[in-house]
Order: sequence, then structure tokens, then C-alpha cells
Amino acid sequence: CIWGIYSGYMFYSTVGCHPTRCGEFEQSDPDQYLAEMQNLAEKNKGKIRAIGECGLDFDRLEFCPKDTQLNQFDLSENAHTEFLEIMRRNRDRCMGGVVHSFDGTKEEAAAIIDLDLYIGINGCSLKTEANLETLKSIPSERLMIETDAPWCGVKNTHAGSKLEHCLKDRNEPCHIIQVLEIMTTVREEDPLELANTLYNNTIKVFFSDM
Ligand SMILES: *[C@@H]1O[C@H](CO)[C@@H](O)[C@H](O)[C@H]1NC(C)=O
Repeated sequence: CIWGIYSGYMFYSTVGCHPTRCGEFEQSDPDQYLAEMQNLAEKNKGKIRAIGECGLDFDRLEFCPKDTQLNQFDLSENAHTEFLEIMRRNRDRCMGGVVHSFDGTKEEAAAIIDLDLYIGINGCSLKTEANLETLKSIPSERLMIETDAPWCGVKNTHAGSKLEHCLKDRNEPCHIIQVLEIMTTVREEDPLELANTLYNNTIKVFFSDM
């Protein structure tokens, strides 16, 4: 559950325990597990730019029961509602961050923005008409873009899917352009302009000290 560190030029990493793997915390000594993650992050500060992925994932409870997820986050039905509550309580402990693979409502997006956090959009954030309406409501200064490869791929029917250097039907980092094309079509924005804004947002959150 601790993601590998890429040492290559321009590759960076985060360190965290994915919500669906949270059982790992309880199988071992939770304090030691946390200490090991902290140690890994501190030893590799230049390369590890954030803590994550962490949070709540109630869509995939087969991997980790809800109770276990909530125990770790010190809580008690809806992942969005509970996430927001935890973040409000701990706002001063957090330098900033991004709510990744966002698929919530307009209200939830507004609440995240209110917490000075950013909203990460990938293929899973663009599935329904309601998702697209929510996307339109988010100011570009608060958006980020992601593929979540190998998950959350955009279906082949979307514009931009004919990139020949990418393997068909497998979500890869190069597919980020498909997410951008959908975002800019929905938002009626210029792709290059939005890409620059998204890039600037990413630098602000992950690299403001570099
Ligand atoms: C992004 O940041 C650069 C450097 O600060 C700035 O010159 C540029 O105007 C910004 N672009 C957008 C679209 O915000």
C-alpha cells in the first residue's frame, strides 16, 4: 500500500495508505505502520510531495470494511459528508491538498473549495450528466486533472481516444489529454488556457516550496 518511489527526473510520489487497503493498518501495529510511512516521507522529502491517497472509499467495501475505514479516520454514512467533517476539524493541520477522483455534487464541490482544497477530475468524475453539471460549477483556479491510471479510464467513444501511441483500452498517463478535452468541451474553455491553469494549480499545491 505504500507506493513505489520513482527516482527518475520529473517523477514524484506521494505516500499513503489507500482506503481499500486500510486493513493493513490493523493487521500490523498501527503506530509502527504510521511511523514507517512518516519515516519514508521524511527521508525522501524532495521526491514525496504529499501524503495520500488517504480518505474514505465506500464504493469498494469488499476491500476494507467501512468500520475499519472510519476507525482510522476517527469517525462514524456518506463518504463525502464524513470526509468534509474530518477535514473541517483538522483544517489547521493540513497545508493544502486535492480531493482526487471527485464525483460529488455541486454542494460538495463548494464545501471542498471552502476548505481551500482543490478538486481532481478524471474519467470517473465525468460519467454522468450530473457530474458534468458539477464540473461546470467549479472555478478553474480550484481544478486539477488526473487519469488515475490504470483505473477510471475514459471510454473509447470520447473525443481524443485515438492517440496512437497509447495502448487501446488501457488507461495510461498519456490519456490525460482525453480528460482535458472533455473538461474544456463541457466548460466551453480553451484547452491550452485551462491546461496552463491546471498546471499552475498543481505547482502551487505540490511544489510551492521548490
Ligand atoms: C501560470 O503561471 C505563470 C507563472 O506564474 C503565469 O505567467 C501564467 O499567466 C499562468 N497562467 C495561467 C493560465 O494562469
